[in-house]
Amino acid sequence: MDKFVINGGRPLAGTVIIGGAKNASLALMPATLLATGSFQLRNTPVLRDVTTMSRLLESMGLRFSRQDTTLTVENAGVTSREAPYEHVKKMRASIYVLGPLVGRFGEARVSLPGGCAWGPRPVNLHIEGLRKLGAQIDLDGGYIIAKAKRLHGARILFDISSVGATGNILMAAVLAKGSTIIENAAMEPEITALAEFLVAMGAKIHGIGTGCLEIEGVDELHSASTTTIPDRIEAGTFMVAAALAGDRSKSVRLEHCQPRHIGSLIVKLEDAGARLKLGPDWVEVTPPEAITPVNATTAIYPGFPTDMQAQWISLMSMSTGTSIITDTIYFDRFAHVPELARLGANVTVKENIATVFGSPRLKGAKVMSTDLRASASLILAGLAAEGTTEVLRVYHLDRGYEAIEKKLQGLGADISRVAGEEF
Ligand code: EPZ
Repeated sequence: MDKFVINGGRPLAGTVIIGGAKNASLALMPATLLATGSFQLRNTPVLRDVTTMSRLLESMGLRFSRQDTTLTVENAGVTSREAPYEHVKKMRASIYVLGPLVGRFGEARVSLPGGCAWGPRPVNLHIEGLRKLGAQIDLDGGYIIAKAKRLHGARILFDISSVGATGNILMAAVLAKGSTIIENAAMEPEITALAEFLVAMGAKIHGIGTGCLEIEGVDELHSASTTTIPDRIEAGTFMVAAALAGDRSKSVRLEHCQPRHIGSLIVKLEDAGARLKLGPDWVEVTPPEAITPVNATTAIYPGFPTDMQAQWISLMSMSTGTSIITDTIYFDRFAHVPELARLGANVTVKENIATVFGSPRLKGAKVMSTDLRASASLILAGLAAEGTTEVLRVYHLDRGYEAIEKKLQGLGADISRVAGEEF
């Protein structure tokens, strides 16, 4: 397993190109189960999770080829309606095949996703939604077994706003007989991108981008192509890197990003003292002389993303005072805190609330990645810490950040990947 070795304190400056959104690609790829033909998914990032999803879909009969950032999907027929545990245990988003399989073929056998590094990840909303659309769902031997003659439209309310459940039910409802209403639908840009892709495939969806989606079922869909939206969490991660370790006399410019999709973080960074300039597809961040402590509470889009919570704790750990970070989406997503403490961060966690006592200096140490965004927070802290930081098990990072060390090297960071032995 690889590790990153970081010699902290190098001031970051220059330009970084943001890639396509992982969480959009992981929804667009299973949507190609819904129609035969050839699909071009442009601006698809090269990530472990994208590879995992393509391997799962290949086991169902789809074929993939890549030309630069364009992923071509050939669907000449779906030969399997099953997502085995071996695939699903690697990545929870594999459950996105459930909706399209039941919607188009009336059957699916999909392994229940296990937990993840920070606790249980229920799928009750996915199951309840499919049942309302007329699917018979049994749970047997760790598998979701779904059957339906043909799904029918329904009125569905998600008590908790769920990105995955909204995506799954959307992909199930587009071929159902009749109309479906999804109340309290997720409004994340990745769901909007999925809905727009489904419309390009011939689906009839109204209310895109709002919390109420209306789907008029059709009998058949056709292939289509799309350009994946930029990754707002990769962009947010680099914006925090600039605020934490940027050259105070210069700036870090992010290109190919979508500032509108990360507006909540932009406000928080300005509150923390960073100076930002925004363009249609670029952001320039100049770091503050001193980091002002700023509280943050995660929320569904367009609130402050839970996927930026760990990175924000890293920034606040070097602020001039105390800040409170509350995660209302995942109550136990704090595996990064004990690792940050090894770098000298002073953070206490009680239930879903982290209290960060900022200090002007962190000191390099060996730290362990536990999950994707936790690993990112350790890299950020290592960039600002004095001395050498080793971040172990960086395969977690490779799941959701394309060549992050190369992009950081391009900004002047002293970071290198060391391959190999068991760390
Ligand atoms: C998506 O996960 C993202 N993953 C996550 O990003 C992100 O953290 C999350 O949305 C929240 O924004 C992908 O898009 C592939 P949810 P998802 O269903 O869909 C509860 C990353 O780092 N819930 O919106 O699994 C759930 O426990 C990843 O890129 C139920 O109770 O998240 C959570 O508290 C990590 N029952 C809340 O809803 C359900 O059936 C939001 O979860 C489903 C969810």
